[in-house]
Amino acid sequence: MPDFSYNCWWRDGVIYQVYPRSFKDTTGNGVGDLQGIIENLDHLVDLGVDALWISPFFPSPMADFGYDVSDYTDVHPLFGTLETMERLIEAAHDRRLRVVLDFVPNHSSDQHPWFIESRSSRDNPKRDWYVWCDAKPDGSAPNNWLSVFGGSAWEWDAATGQYYLHSFLNEQPDLNWRHEGVKAAMFDVLRFWLDRGVDGFRIDVAHYIMKDPEFRDNPARPESPEDFFKPMGEYATQDHLYDKGHPDVHGVFQEMRTLADSYNAIGERFLAGEIHIFDVAEWAAYYGRAGDELHFPLNFGLIKAGWTAEAIRRSVDALEATIREGDWPNYVLGNHDEPRLATRYGEVQARVAAMLLLTLRGTPTLYYGDEIGMLDVAIPPDRIQDPWPLRSGILEINRDPCRTPMQWTGGPGAGFSPAAAEGSVPEPWLPVHPNHTHVNVEHQQADPGSIYNFYRRLLRLRRDTPALVRGSYRPIESPAGTFVYLRELDDARRLVALNFTDEPKLIRIPTDLAGRLEISTEMDRAGESVAGGVLALRRHEACLLS
Ligand code: NOJ
Repeated sequence: MPDFSYNCWWRDGVIYQVYPRSFKDTTGNGVGDLQGIIENLDHLVDLGVDALWISPFFPSPMADFGYDVSDYTDVHPLFGTLETMERLIEAAHDRRLRVVLDFVPNHSSDQHPWFIESRSSRDNPKRDWYVWCDAKPDGSAPNNWLSVFGGSAWEWDAATGQYYLHSFLNEQPDLNWRHEGVKAAMFDVLRFWLDRGVDGFRIDVAHYIMKDPEFRDNPARPESPEDFFKPMGEYATQDHLYDKGHPDVHGVFQEMRTLADSYNAIGERFLAGEIHIFDVAEWAAYYGRAGDELHFPLNFGLIKAGWTAEAIRRSVDALEATIREGDWPNYVLGNHDEPRLATRYGEVQARVAAMLLLTLRGTPTLYYGDEIGMLDVAIPPDRIQDPWPLRSGILEINRDPCRTPMQWTGGPGAGFSPAAAEGSVPEPWLPVHPNHTHVNVEHQQADPGSIYNFYRRLLRLRRDTPALVRGSYRPIESPAGTFVYLRELDDARRLVALNFTDEPKLIRIPTDLAGRLEISTEMDRAGESVAGGVLALRRHEACLLS
């Protein structure tokens, strides 16, 4: 392992998520690949992030675009080979970038050899590696559990006369983590990658792995007028008490942490869990009572809060008030399951969102393309790829719009795929946004006021300012529609002021703050001194002051 100067990279650094199908295609088949990531690691260095998390690239029938894994310890030929992955890890480490993989423990593909064996007969030794149950006397499913992607979570297997559980697609059968053999095999998967120098894992739907051993029915969930979960259709009508998050999950994460920590002597290894729980105390339990489970459960609270200064502040304050000293916060605003930042909040507000994400106390995760303000792409119905809308019939839930090809240049196909010999560019797996003529990396690198250069400058300020990395968080009272906080470490202080509205706002600055503007979202006020202790925030503007 190369000698990195700091160990707590997951705490001090910024994580950048790459969705490999859409980052860069080097073979000309319209799908991104690992070589494309290797060739663009310098983009991550130029931007100023510290780690990349790569969504699944393992062998898979692609029913859920890689979240249906048929071999956890190899690479899908679409993306390259194991050797390409080893080169990627080395090339990243050479640039002091950490590598985080996506670990998908809750379910495998139905084409995984384990499941093929498991469904082959009731007495196969792998039968109990998955969750099989008898039908009710009338032949119906064992209970009322639902699949996130629509319909019952149970699939009947006529050949062996039992149902198997699938929390997602029926092609994604749930593994039975109560079986010691499953746990041992999955821990071997972690070792396989840790031995190859991988620095950590983002654990897919981490809390799903343990369910109620009695398989009790979920109770109904009362409807509420502005229900965040409503787009999930029938799934939102249940309180998911029994189909995930059973307390036994904590024991598994303690063991997983012990495993990860056993590699620390050669560079700190990290575990983050995708945990969509919005009761902060229940969510925070995944740090472990003694900080001995996940380094952090990923925090989607800001996404759920909605984009108002007041709701965002409430979400941050609730987290800060709940987690214990020693537990480290983190914030997510975008990923491969959510509408793009610039679409959700607006193109100007996307900069305010970046300021928030990069200056709160906690590790930020950035999603590829947000650094150039990429927008969702409208997907024609005949080009929808995502199985969720296709299976559930709920088109608003389509995740394709945020998974479109990275916009590298203003040239044909945004420079995502190479031109073929005859000069034509292949049709990528999802359409490229027509705005790539100006929303692209090349163009924005050359434009000093671009959102790219805003991210780049802010990431450098963050890296060079210990108060922004490790300092405490203290909110300050401010006018409606604004959110203002201090980050303080020893004598160093930084103030962040965000205006969520389309009206100018005046912010009173504490008298003992120097009042020098370090950066504004509009990139035109650096060095300005805030006269009279009052900062005039323009509409949709955010500023960082020392
Ligand atoms: C969560 C992932 O983020 C999502 O993309 C995937 O479809 C489900 N887990 C199932 O693995």
